Amino acid sequence: MQYKKLWVAFGLVMLIGFAVLGGVGYKAINNGPPIPGQVVTADGRVLFTGETIRDGQNVWQSTGGQEIGTIWGHGAYVAPDWSADYLHRQSEIVLNRWARQQGATSYSELPAEQRAALQGRLTELTRRNTYNKATGTLVLDNDRAAAFDELAAYYADVYGRGRNEYAIPAGALSDPTKQHQMATFFFWTAWAASTNRPGQEVTYTQNWPHEELVGNRPTGATIVWSVISFVLLLAGIGAMVWYFGSQEHRPVTERMPSRDPLLGLKPTPSQRATVKYFFVVAALWVVQVALGGIVAHYGVEGSSFYGIPLAKYLPYAVARTWHLQIGIFWIATSWLATGLYIVPAVSGREPKGQCFGVNALFVAVVAVVVGSLAGEWMGIQQKLGNLWFWFGAQGYEYVDLGRVWQILLFVGLLFWLWLMWRGIKPALARRDENHSLLLLFLVSSIAIPVFYAAGLMYGQRSPLITAEYWRWWVVHLWVEGFFEVFATVVIAFLLTRLKLLSVSTATRGVLFSTVIYLSGGIIGTFHHLYFTGAPNSVLALGAVFSALEVVPLVLIGFEAWENIRLSRGTAQSPWISAYKWPIYFFVAVAFWNFVGAGLFGFMINPPVALYYVQGLNLTPVHGHTALFGVYGMLGLGLMLFCLRALRPAWRGRTVR
Ligand code: HEM
Repeated sequence: MQYKKLWVAFGLVMLIGFAVLGGVGYKAINNGPPIPGQVVTADGRVLFTGETIRDGQNVWQSTGGQEIGTIWGHGAYVAPDWSADYLHRQSEIVLNRWARQQGATSYSELPAEQRAALQGRLTELTRRNTYNKATGTLVLDNDRAAAFDELAAYYADVYGRGRNEYAIPAGALSDPTKQHQMATFFFWTAWAASTNRPGQEVTYTQNWPHEELVGNRPTGATIVWSVISFVLLLAGIGAMVWYFGSQEHRPVTERMPSRDPLLGLKPTPSQRATVKYFFVVAALWVVQVALGGIVAHYGVEGSSFYGIPLAKYLPYAVARTWHLQIGIFWIATSWLATGLYIVPAVSGREPKGQCFGVNALFVAVVAVVVGSLAGEWMGIQQKLGNLWFWFGAQGYEYVDLGRVWQILLFVGLLFWLWLMWRGIKPALARRDENHSLLLLFLVSSIAIPVFYAAGLMYGQRSPLITAEYWRWWVVHLWVEGFFEVFATVVIAFLLTRLKLLSVSTATRGVLFSTVIYLSGGIIGTFHHLYFTGAPNSVLALGAVFSALEVVPLVLIGFEAWENIRLSRGTAQSPWISAYKWPIYFFVAVAFWNFVGAGLFGFMINPPVALYYVQGLNLTPVHGHTALFGVYGMLGLGLMLFCLRALRPAWRGRTVR
């Protein structure tokens, strides 16, 4: 096989990557912060049970969960991080109580020396682990037990009467039992964030969040692995430049064709059927942008939009959930459509009944989009009772949609894969020069539904660390793993169809970049789990492997310039100007891959950086520029390419 070495490297990267991700992940899940069977006071009074904490987690999820405030740094940005908020308020309550016992009106009134002594006492009290694994009991001192009562009343007020500054409308959660349950969950997340792991001097969340009052500061490991990640990045870039320098530089294309190779090719019925997908893409994109404006505005006015009491009908948590879900939907729809468009072009013929399949999938996609969005609106507003998890919103960012919709989407993706397979199979059987590129295209197409299925690995009552681990399998392994592969293959494939890129150059380039990208990307998943209750090994592996993800992005300028040169090749081949806009979008993909994913991603990637900025505004800077910059731009570029090929009469102006 011509590309044997590259395929072997690909196989090894997959094998080692997933062995580490699976093995260390298993350890992380099994060593997560324990949920005690019961929480009791020193004199034996039962405060609440582990079941109440689990109920509380579910209540939090049902109100929108990560779409309203964050927990351990993951979620939305207007409301606070509830674990950090609880921890800080609890610390202040206890310190003030002690200060009053010493005759002062409050802690801040005390002289510095006494304040330092009380802070030391609080640090010792808070970080000492009083959870007994054998009995499943967590013993809480009377001071923190009293603080819990005060804080439970406070959070009941926040969710019951609402808070403009947090974009929480009045009545967001009015059931007193549920309010109490949710407070126990906030307590538990703060407890895990401030209690040392047994036998260690570091909390379950690697001392996150920063809280001087209880001695929560970045650990030595957080700093050391951050520095190592920088050194490895430099080493990786050096090695890559060395490799590139050693390669023979070949022109992008051997000879540009004099006329458009796609012109005159009659679109098949299934290809024509994909046009409606693109209308949906355009409509969803407009709605998503509008929702983004509304969500941003809530950060200022809280519950109104320029004086209109919009939150009554569309609370922040719903608007933000929709903003994210619609973003994912339109990007995914444009990809599905492009895949379906490409299939007959690959096989050279239309599989029987393909057009019917494309239309059926379209109906299913629309049903899931509309159904899941409606469910999220009802679920977050507590209109679905106990069905919130199944039909409403699960409360986990990016995989918010209710479980039933999630399963239906998965089935839809499998159906899409089947439609793709039918087209690719005969082309694969030919074993011509396209074979390797097609194989990789198939692998990345399989990866899309397979990794989406990871989102089904946790249930309604799974602990947070389990849900977080699998959730990032979906989000990270899609966007920082197989989407990159899919994107590179699709672009390469389209350029080879236009005969602007030779198949052998494309195949070698795509396989090489896939190997490099996945060698950092798979284990790099751990950078999302630094502070989510995972052990030190997760922090170390996440920091160094995700630094390696940036290496290929630093050299992406080569790819961008190849595309720019193509768009300028109009002198010898004037027909290329018709593809100018899709090519510009592909250039934008490369640019944002470097800036949005590479620079802004690495800016928050070293553990010590993320320690301070997690859940703050630098995360969305990266999230937007990477997700929209790379995959949004790609979705739009692919859409323009397909429409251009399907509607040759549409010149550049229509597209603009
Ligand atoms: C096209 C590629 C990428 C996409 C689409 C992407 C997208 C995202 C998204 C959507 C988030 C979540 C933001 C939020 O919670 O609001 C995120 C978080 C993050 N990304 Fe990326 N990313 C990409 C590449 C990278 C790379 C290459 C790195 C590292 C060098 C990186 C490092 C991070 C870190 C450290 C976080 C925050 C961790 C966390 O809070 O879970 N990303 N990314």
